[in-house]
Amino acid sequence: MAKLTIRDLNVRGQRVFIRVDFNVPMEDKNGQMVINDTTRIVETLPTLKFLIEQGGKLILTAHLGRPKGQRETSMSLRPVAVKLADLLGCNVAFADDCIGEKVEQTVGIMKPGDVLLLENVRYYNEEEKNDPAFAEKLAKVADVYVNDAFGAAHRAHASTEGVARIVAKRGGQCAAGLLMERELKFLGEELEKPARPFVVILGGAKVSDKIKVIDRLLEKADTILIGGAMAYTFKLAHDVKTGKSLIEPDHKHTALAAEAKAEKLGVNFQLPTDTVIATPVDSGKLNKKGKPVYDLTNIRTISGDIPDDAEGFSIGAETEKNYAAIIRGAKTILWNGPMGMFEDPRFAAGTNSVAQAVVDATQNNGAVSIIGGGDSVKAINKAGLGSKVTFMSTGGGASLEFLEGAVMPGVAALSDK
Ligand code: 3PG
Repeated sequence: MAKLTIRDLNVRGQRVFIRVDFNVPMEDKNGQMVINDTTRIVETLPTLKFLIEQGGKLILTAHLGRPKGQRETSMSLRPVAVKLADLLGCNVAFADDCIGEKVEQTVGIMKPGDVLLLENVRYYNEEEKNDPAFAEKLAKVADVYVNDAFGAAHRAHASTEGVARIVAKRGGQCAAGLLMERELKFLGEELEKPARPFVVILGGAKVSDKIKVIDRLLEKADTILIGGAMAYTFKLAHDVKTGKSLIEPDHKHTALAAEAKAEKLGVNFQLPTDTVIATPVDSGKLNKKGKPVYDLTNIRTISGDIPDDAEGFSIGAETEKNYAAIIRGAKTILWNGPMGMFEDPRFAAGTNSVAQAVVDATQNNGAVSIIGGGDSVKAINKAGLGSKVTFMSTGGGASLEFLEGAVMPGVAALSDK
């Protein structure tokens, strides 16, 4: 059922409690935490600007990392408040807690259009436990509840689910933000009745991680293109040698079942026909985590068996060409998971060529292109092509679960239209 959105609300003078996903990558630079990628903050701005214009009092709650109930200073949201003020072009107050009297007092003197960011909600264990008493404490400053945190909507936590239930019980409204609305539109509605041909590109490390998505999309797609390390488990299932490649021997049957279902449904299910491989050689050095570092030597492209001493790192040039031709003819594209180890330029060509083909289809063939979050978003941004696709999800695990068809607790808790 369609959910209420912030466009349906009248928030003038109301305390609007907004769950955002500000779980952004950060790095310690000379003792200061610096944000490496502001995408999740930027994508929330339309919601925040809209609610400011409508005269709401904006109380923002979010998590950062997994501090497990401890006040980890490296996981404080304070730097995010500074960045948000910069991006919004207005003052953003910061509360060094997310519940309690001080927060209530600060909210008590807020005026319409004011913005307050609360400290990391995961400094309390009760958040992840969805503890009702903790949710009550959070809800003390909420007249209206808004969830714009698609990336955290797969979690049934106090700030994503519990508060919404409490606000609704009091007769308050619970609505989706504009980012949440867009995520649900592109990862949901657009893929329900896709313009055809509908091409799905799936990569990543493990078949087991993606099998539910494969299974569901087999019902809708015209073509599924497989890449990344998970392709090696498919190879293994066909008794092709995989050398030292990442494989899941326990999932050979999963791979074969997916192929059988594709055949039954008439889906064009493609596996790589060639592979970029390298021979790992122990360098004798250890990385920061104390693990041995391997030099990747003798990089070459093969088809068929991978030699015993070699490992697969990406799709080969022939596969690139075949996949690109199919993608360029698509009208709807969903891409989730890179084609190989794109972080290393020596193995990035396959992923980059898929990224370019997705852009070509979008620009020249009128395709709707949807990038399903996580590493595929990183890959397309690394290739400098992020702005040329139709939609990039801000979710990681959330996008995958949503594509699997799972009910998202953070969405289910919102008011129906
Ligand atoms: C994410 O980064 O995927 C979301 O913010 C959720 O974070 P979590 O996996 O720690 O719940």
